[in-house]
This record gives sequence, structure tokens and C-alpha cells, in this order.
Amino acid sequence: MIPELSRPSVYMRDPRRVEEIIKAMKQAGPSTMQVISDFDMTLTRFAYNGKRCPTCHNILENSKLISQECRDKLEDLLNTYYPIEIDSSRSVEEKLPLMVEWWTKAHDLLVQQKIRKDLLTLVVRESDAMLREGYRVFFDQLQEHSIPLLIFSAGVGDVLEEVIRQAGVFHPNVKIFSNYMDFDENGALRAFKGQLIHIYNKREGALLNSGHFQELKARHNVLLLGDSLGDLTMADGVYSMENILKIGYLNDKVQERKESYLNAYDIVLQQDETMDVANAILLYMT
Ligand code: C5P
Ligand code: MG
Repeated sequence: MIPELSRPSVYMRDPRRVEEIIKAMKQAGPSTMQVISDFDMTLTRFAYNGKRCPTCHNILENSKLISQECRDKLEDLLNTYYPIEIDSSRSVEEKLPLMVEWWTKAHDLLVQQKIRKDLLTLVVRESDAMLREGYRVFFDQLQEHSIPLLIFSAGVGDVLEEVIRQAGVFHPNVKIFSNYMDFDENGALRAFKGQLIHIYNKREGALLNSGHFQELKARHNVLLLGDSLGDLTMADGVYSMENILKIGYLNDKVQERKESYLNAYDIVLQQDETMDVANAILLYMT
């Protein structure tokens, strides 16, 4: 049906079920579809030429906008909390308060640096941020068929927007839920707006933003893309869901985490740096 599903990076616990969902969504047509995607390490690459690619937060950390002292502190936080994020031996309940701690400490440090809004464009341009191979086909295809794309990210909204704007794919069908910066009258960062989004409260974020899903009331079929098990709740605000196809990128600690990803996601993409599978499914469905 879709040759890309036979690639060696593709794993499915129940291929027949995947086929059924894809067929049902194809039959219902693009006017009934919406796409909900995570950003960091889902739409962006995890690695390039053996080197890790940055998250939204890392783009700021690695930039000239912050002092060496602050960079060292943020790096310590990353070294402490990222291993916890991807530790498959700890439960979500155990990880949740630690993730809140990570985000809160990192945001406090960023605010202390009074990051300037007018320099974000430059910082993103000079960064190693990289969308996955095939990203243009992905964004353009959705725009062409007027399929809404919700990017739901625990990263930094202002940075994320700049990445997709510079890539030329910030089309009108794209809507973003993320952590946005609040700048003072001089354009210096003074806080983060609204309720914090971290990797384990996307469900609350979805329900808080129910107005968005209300607008898309007629779209009962969802393609969901994520790289964390926390991303699975991003579609919890969708109005009377009919079909959902969940695609999960398994980027890191693949052996330890494979089983849990196979149980949670319909399609698991193991160390696959492309959008090819999602693009092929969308092409088939539309
Ligand atoms: O867009 P997404 O929801 O994936 O963004 C969350 C990611 O940001 C997490 O997977 C986490 O590893 C990363 N992060 C980071 N630095 C922080 C907090 C989170 O790189 N201070
Ligand atoms: Mg992610």
C-alpha cells in the first residue's frame, strides 16, 4: 500500500490495524483531517552527521545572548534532567515533578539574562537548528490540502516560530501552542507567558486551549507525531475523535525504550531523520 512502511527504520506492533486506520482516513478525506505534531526532535532532527541537533532551549543556550556562567548552569541542568526524561525505568509520576523543576529552573535562568527579542532572528539563523529531511513536502502538502497543523511544543514558541519562518514553511494553516516569552517595553525578556508547558502536561494544555479544537470540530481524524510518550496526549482536546494514527520517533536509548514505544505508538520510527513516512501516508490519504 505504502512502500515507505517497509523501510528498516519502521516498526509496527499491529501493521494490519495501521492499514485499517490509514484506509479509513483516506476514505473520509482531507476535509476531515487535522495534524497534531510535537516540535523538538519530531519536526526537527535529533542528529546530523553524528552530532546532536539543538532543541529550542538549546538554541538559546548555545547563543551569544547569554553569559558563559549561565550557559554552564543550563548545561548542568541538561546533564542532570535529560537522562531522567528518557529513563524508561522511572514512572511518569516520578518524572513529572523533576521535569517541572527542570523547565522552571531553565526559564528562571533565561529570564535573568534579559534576552532581547530583536536578536532572536539572528540567534536562530546562526544556530544548528535543522528540520527533518522532507520537511518542506510535509508543510507544503498540508497547506495545499488545507489540513490544519497544530504544533504543540514544550519548547520556546518564539524560537520555534523563527525556525519555521526562516525555513519558509510558516504557512497560514499552522497554529502553535508553546511557551511564549513575555518582553518588557524595552524588548527584554521578563517572564514566560501563561501556564508552563512541559513534556508531561500536554493533555492539560490541550484542554485549556479547547477553543482551537472547537474551531476544527468537523475534523475527527488525526495524524499525531511525537518523540516522547508525553506527546500522546496532545490530541486529548479533539472533538469526537474517529480515527487517530500515532507516529512516534524513537531517537535515543532505542533498545530500552522500544517496547514501550511499540505499545504506545502505531508506527515507531527508529533513528529515522526524515519526514518520509508521514509524507507518504499523507500523499496516500489525500
Ligand atoms: O517541542 P518539545 O515538546 O519536544 O520540547 C521539549 C524538549 O525540550 C524536551 O524533549 C527536552 O529534552 C527539551 N528541553 C531542553 N532544555 C530545557 C527543557 C527541555 O532542551 N531546559
Ligand atoms: Mg519532542
